[in-house]
Amino acid sequence: MNPLAICLLAGITWATVPAWASGEGTYKAVCASCHGQAFPKAPQLGNKTQWAPLIREGQVTLTAHGYVGVRGMPAKGGQADLTLEAFAEALNHMVNQSGGNWKTPDAKTLQAMQAEVAKRQKSKASKAGG
Ligand code: HEC
Repeated sequence: MNPLAICLLAGITWATVPAWASGEGTYKAVCASCHGQAFPKAPQLGNKTQWAPLIREGQVTLTAHGYVGVRGMPAKGGQADLTLEAFAEALNHMVNQSGGNWKTPDAKTLQAMQAEVAKRQKSKASKAGG
């Protein structure tokens, strides 16, 4: 069942669906300023050549690493309250416009992402401290 049908059944309106439910919305609000405007080194939406090697890293790894931040890529796209779910949806939007075919992560995949995020944060912290 799609999310809209679930909302209708639950008796709530589409307008109350949280913004993160739309990967495209999050992309436009948070990511497009860099990933849609030739920000130096940021892989651009729709550029299959730039995205292919990233897509090959896999959804869990790429989502987790992007969320934690890597080089010029700010953690959470620079929006401190962005959830992992919302980040994953925004990334799916970019990937799916750029030659990939990723889906909304299920519970198991999200768990794997969270584990990878924790691992990555730990190694970042130890580097900063060391
Ligand atoms: C301030 C600019 C900026 C914003 C905002 C931003 N990014 Fe990025 N992003 C970058 C840059 C620059 C890189 C390239 C990093 C590098 O390889 O040096 C990057 C790389 C990435 C990568 C590849 C990471 C890797 O492992 O190589 C992902 C995934 C990504 N961004 C996702 C997102 C998502 C999703 C959002 C929005 C929620 C977002 N970015 C918002 C600048 C930005």
